[in-house]
Amino acid sequence: MLDESLIRDQLHNTVHEIKLPQLGKHYRGKVRENFIDEENHQRIIISTDRLSAFDKVITTIPFKGQLLNQMSTFWFEKTKHIAPNHIIDIPDPNVVRVHECQSLPVEMIVRAYITGSAWRAYQKGESVSGITFPAGLKNYQKLPEPVITPTTKAEVGEHDLPISREEIIAKGLVEEDVYTDIEKKTMDLFKFASDYCAQNNLILVDCKFEFGKTHDGEIVVIDEIFTPDASRFWIKDSYQERFEKGEKPEILDKEFFRQWLIKEKNFMGDGPIPEIPDDIKVEFVNRYVQSFEMITGQDFVPVVEGNVIERIKKNLKI
Ligand SMILES: Nc1ncnc2c1ncn2[C@@H]1O[C@H](COP(=O)(O)OP(=O)(O)OP(=O)(O)O)[C@@H](O)[C@H]1O
Ligand SMILES: [Mg+2]
Repeated sequence: MLDESLIRDQLHNTVHEIKLPQLGKHYRGKVRENFIDEENHQRIIISTDRLSAFDKVITTIPFKGQLLNQMSTFWFEKTKHIAPNHIIDIPDPNVVRVHECQSLPVEMIVRAYITGSAWRAYQKGESVSGITFPAGLKNYQKLPEPVITPTTKAEVGEHDLPISREEIIAKGLVEEDVYTDIEKKTMDLFKFASDYCAQNNLILVDCKFEFGKTHDGEIVVIDEIFTPDASRFWIKDSYQERFEKGEKPEILDKEFFRQWLIKEKNFMGDGPIPEIPDDIKVEFVNRYVQSFEMITGQDFVPVVEGNVIERIKKNLKI
């Protein structure tokens, strides 16, 4: 837990947006700003403190960008012996400098349990990405073996769709030898992280990886890995008992803020964006820190060094 006065002191020292046109072509995600230096085949990814829900940016939360960035960089560092990744360096706690890659047009999703969209398809008797699940599964049940259910990587604003290994190769989306390589890396990464998470009372339920080809032709993991935005985590201790009672597993905190918006503000994405009280922001920080510490097994060390935007610029030498 962070000291409450530290969080309160930083409530207005957050990154909502950051304009750095000198860094190259700009692409804005919901929470991250990407700047692409095409000439040098590099990309700067800045994790801001934006908090989004129902596809809307609601507010900013101190340390959220640092927490998100450091969850991902923690895992990239820990797994680089399993699969090379896009990181060049980490100039600031909120920032990574990466190799700009040609991204492969598929997202690799591994599932060790059936839930979410796979469960919805299974209920309708459908296979998922060419995978037929065994008969008689219940929602949230562990699968006999983890499976990869790839999807296409849709253009902005469109939905990713499940696609089978065979179709990916037949359509020439990814060459077979490259696909075989990323399939192995996907499984190895998943296995490594789920063993690690199990020691921290977490179940790594499913997660997503993206791969790309660097300018030098190397296939590397890109984007972010094992963050709450790219993975689903359940609390391990309570899983079995709840599953046997037919109850939903305890989810590593993601729902708290959405539930608060629905219950207290009757907000589900439409209408004016509600004001978020300081107490709720403080609670969000504490919960996000707790997630960080469970996912990484490390203490979170908040960086407070003057104005956060000025610090980022200084660390990027601009
Ligand atoms: N090293 C890289 N080379 C090329 N593209 C990359 C690299 N790393 C990430 N990307 C791509 O950049 C984009 C990152 O965008 P970002 O995560 O900020 O927003 P988004 O994925 O469009 O939306 P969301 O906010 O929902 O995540 C993704 O399309 C990702 O595939
Ligand atoms: Mg993204």
